[in-house]
Amino acid sequence: MPQWLRWILSFAAIMLVALVAGIFLVSSWRINRDYAITIDPIRVPESQEAIDRGRYLADAVNKCTECHGKQLGGEIFIDDPALGRLVASNLTAGEGGVARRYTRDDWVRSIRHGVGPDGKPLLFMPAQEYNSLSDADLGALLAYVKSLPPVDSDLPDSRVGPLGRLLLLAGRLPLLPAELIDHDAKPLQAPPRGATADYGDYLVRTGGCTGCHGDHLSGGPIPGAPPDAPPAGNITPDEDSGIGSWSQDDFIQAMRTGKRPDGSSIDPFMPWKANGRMTDEDLSAIYLALREVEPREAGGR
Ligand code: HEC
Ligand code: HEC
Repeated sequence: MPQWLRWILSFAAIMLVALVAGIFLVSSWRINRDYAITIDPIRVPESQEAIDRGRYLADAVNKCTECHGKQLGGEIFIDDPALGRLVASNLTAGEGGVARRYTRDDWVRSIRHGVGPDGKPLLFMPAQEYNSLSDADLGALLAYVKSLPPVDSDLPDSRVGPLGRLLLLAGRLPLLPAELIDHDAKPLQAPPRGATADYGDYLVRTGGCTGCHGDHLSGGPIPGAPPDAPPAGNITPDEDSGIGSWSQDDFIQAMRTGKRPDGSSIDPFMPWKANGRMTDEDLSAIYLALREVEPREAGGR
């Protein structure tokens, strides 16, 4: 091998090692960063009404069950050597469950801020959506979680693989929701419940629609979704690529049956089954809120 080639190869090797070390160091710094958060205490009601409300939120609106499992006993939902392992924790008081060790403030810190009791950010837990939950709704969720039968589960810890780190740094994987949250902001007041655009807007923000359909709701590729997942649809009232021509009944039907007004099926990556468990009133509110967003062409997120 000529000397010059040897030089170039060694240089390239050194650059590669430096790059890999850089990715590892910067991502580790972000993953292990400490967040000191002042928790605004909330009241956790004990009434059956609050527990029922919490179950409804966990199942249909905020969809905790989609990741943490039907009984909230925890689930491994990604396990890939390159990407990493994401384990939604067991939330019950069973063996290995967080309800055994959590204080009330720990719950608020995790759900509203995406930060664990140790001050480190939780991975992939969509707290940026739950940050806007009203005190009453967060209280109801906790009332429900506390009422759950204990589930024993011995789940491994989450960890981030090399590809996960790279995607995190490239801004392509929403791995650290804590970074997206203004931790000093005062909790929002939810508008009164009812079939109004205002309340629908609250459901759109806390119910995860923006997480997949984008802040402007016009859809596009979903950050962190598996490669075979379709891009999110355009749910702005744009007449051509959006849902501008859908009536309120069309929308409710689509959420209940997974079928668009033209009869085509909506991919199950869109959690229409969970959304379809929402009441008519809540779905109407979401429809009214979606009518009021600015119409956009598809894919502008
Ligand atoms: C998109 C998937 C997803 C959804 C939806 C979700 N979580 Fe999580 N959650 C996670 C993951 C993943 C973790 C573990 C994070 C980690 O290990 O760093 C987690 C962790 C938590 C923790 C911290 C537990 C611990 O180990 O300290 C709590 C509390 C929690 N979630 C509650 C909820 C509640 C309540 C809801 C619904 C309002 C919810 N989660 C919805 C994915 C999700
Ligand atoms: C986990 C990601 C995800 C979440 C959360 C989500 N969606 Fe979707 N949604 C999708 C995807 C992906 C599609 C496109 C499915 C397809 O192409 O078949 C879609 C399609 C739709 C459609 C059909 C639009 C069309 O014609 O293609 C509607 C309506 C819709 N979503 C409404 C909502 C509402 C309302 C919410 C919040 C309550 C929501 N979605 C939350 C991923 C999501």
